[in-house]
Amino acid sequence: MSELQARAIAHANIALAKYWGKADEKLNLPAVPSVSITLAPLATHTHVRFDPKLESDRFLLGGKAAQPEETARVTKLLDRVRALAGLRLRAKVTSSNDFPTASGLASSASGFAALAAAARAAAGLPFDRSAISALARASSVSAARSAVAGFGELPLAGKAGDRLAARMIAPPDHWPLRIVVAVTTEGRKPVGSTGGMQHTARTSPYYASWVAAAPRLCAQIRAGILARDLPAVGTAMEHSTLAMHACAMAAAPAVVYFRPATLAALETVRTLREGKTCVPVWATADAGPHIKALCHVRDVKRVEAALRKTAGVLRTIVCEPGAGVELIP
Ligand code: PMV
Repeated sequence: MSELQARAIAHANIALAKYWGKADEKLNLPAVPSVSITLAPLATHTHVRFDPKLESDRFLLGGKAAQPEETARVTKLLDRVRALAGLRLRAKVTSSNDFPTASGLASSASGFAALAAAARAAAGLPFDRSAISALARASSVSAARSAVAGFGELPLAGKAGDRLAARMIAPPDHWPLRIVVAVTTEGRKPVGSTGGMQHTARTSPYYASWVAAAPRLCAQIRAGILARDLPAVGTAMEHSTLAMHACAMAAAPAVVYFRPATLAALETVRTLREGKTCVPVWATADAGPHIKALCHVRDVKRVEAALRKTAGVLRTIVCEPGAGVELIP
């Protein structure tokens, strides 16, 4: 690729151990550690070109000029890259998602990971996965995890401070799991994750308990991944999910991401697991109304069929552990 431009692809990720709450709003550091799976095929493609003719940054998302607040978040990341590279040029950023934007399908995660990789490369900075992850994390904590392949973790900052980055726990072929996404709406979510978690931290009486409980769940999930113990991972993942949502629902006023179809899909997963079928499957949901069911590849057809039949589920997408962020020619 010629100078001052680069293209990158990053995949969405789904947190098994949830991040909800910030330890440092300015540095954008998480209050709890998290563990995730990077998801193929859900991808964002981003092209960045620094251009002497531009007077301000331009951001096209899905072929259309993005909202001013979205462009401002992109400029913030580009400013960090410009400062690192000693560059003053403005950039044109062209990005497209192959899944619904801002609806709890983690488009910000793949979006900022792809942007961080493409912007650094366009500015002439070397490909450094950890630096890309830390740069993406400064914009969106979950985006740090889309930098790494397969099973990833974002620990607490500790001494790393602003260099906090995700690291891989295990590669994609470590464990043939599938994540069936039950899409319940194509619309944008009413409350963004940053606003939702700040409001939760300020007003939910359960916030301190959530922050205290999350590390143990995260450690159980991490150990369960390494041991390929699906019941251990699934049980702790559901616990982490419902604890996070309960904490948000207890905010004043409540932050509720669930829709009727979310509960119906949760019930489908529970029935599959606890009913006659005994399918080992567990569910999670991020800051949006979709349910993501975690199962072994051998059970994916049954899980997908049951979720498709669930009232309010519009469609399903089957995902598998995928690649980390990459530059593409
Ligand atoms: O990093 P953000 O602002 O996109 O927040 C992500 C929050 C959750 O998706 C709900 C949990 C997570 O760990 O991804």
